[in-house]
Amino acid sequence: MIGMALLGCGRIGKVHAHNLARHPAVKLECVYDVMTCAAESTARDVGTRCARSVDEVMADPAIQAVLIATSTDTHVALIIAAAHAHKAVLCEKPIDLDLARAKRCWNDIASLQPTVMIGFNRRFDPSFRSLRERLGAGEIGVPELVIITSRDPAPPPVAYIKTSGGIFRDMTIHDFDMARYLLGDILELQAFGANLVDPAIGELGDIDTAMLVLRARSGALVHIDNSRRCVYGYDQRIEVFGSKGMLRAGNQHATTVESWNAASTRSRDLIERFFIERYAAAYAAEIDYFAACVRDRKTPSPSFADGISALELAEAAVQSLHSARTVQLS
Ligand SMILES: NC(=O)c1ccc[n+]([C@@H]2O[C@H](COP(=O)([O-])OP(=O)(O)OC[C@H]3O[C@@H](n4cnc5c(N)ncnc54)[C@H](O)[C@@H]3O)[C@@H](O)[C@H]2O)c1
Repeated sequence: MIGMALLGCGRIGKVHAHNLARHPAVKLECVYDVMTCAAESTARDVGTRCARSVDEVMADPAIQAVLIATSTDTHVALIIAAAHAHKAVLCEKPIDLDLARAKRCWNDIASLQPTVMIGFNRRFDPSFRSLRERLGAGEIGVPELVIITSRDPAPPPVAYIKTSGGIFRDMTIHDFDMARYLLGDILELQAFGANLVDPAIGELGDIDTAMLVLRARSGALVHIDNSRRCVYGYDQRIEVFGSKGMLRAGNQHATTVESWNAASTRSRDLIERFFIERYAAAYAAEIDYFAACVRDRKTPSPSFADGISALELAEAAVQSLHSARTVQLS
């Protein structure tokens, strides 16, 4: 059994708490949150105890690994504390909003050779994973075009936007990682953005609608489109076009029932509402994989370096948007 602690019992922390608590190879030793009521209610829900401090978690020899699901601005300090306490880490994305700070974090801990995985959960979605495996097996020949569509159902509150680091670091970061997961290194990108959904987002200097074009080292091109508002649910699709065909992973519906009548054909239930429902299987599979890496002392992927690469792409997208130019990745 792998003793684990969960740090952060907010929206995503609660999802992880349930997956950790029911995992056959993990013992969820405790949860911790600076908001005691959040930790207490999560501990009650999943049948574990609350730790009183981060120090208590880090000093506990029964804990081999921590899952960091706290607010982004706390990730670096917690990764450093866990690495020094020789605990393996699964940390939510992004590592930090500041690329230089994220790089310094690795410099601080590299000599400890820590096990650190970054929570790019979409790599564990069964459909996206299968798409990548079939791409790798050569089913559609050489990939030439990748189209990633990622649209949230509704914009988050303005208070969230203020601390989000902007759409590219907060939202597109998953798509940057997906582009790298499918194609490897990205050499250049150009970003276009608009404020079409909520004027309050524009007033904060952010955008809510984006289209990006990326060029991979392989020569393949990637198109990413994002919106902070999508009236029909959480739109998450990937299409890969290759020399011998196309692979496509579409949206998931609440059921597979289709209705055909005089007014419409093939109408179905709405697609899954948001990330907690859409990626439920991916969050569980992510924990399976991380636990296996800790047990087998394997280096996990997505690694800390993958987290840095996604942040570099986000930074390049910000630069491209502001300069209206193509930005090269070093
Ligand atoms: N992979 C995904 O699909 C996904 C989805 C949502 C959020 N996230 C990421 O997860 C992180 C948390 O997001 P959220 O939406 O759950 O936020 P949230 O605000 O709902 O929860 C964050 C929790 O962390 C707690 N916290 C803050 N500082 C702490 C500290 N130093 N020690 C312990 N607890 C602390 C807060 O009290 C809060 O309960 C963010 O980095 C976010 O980007 C990832």
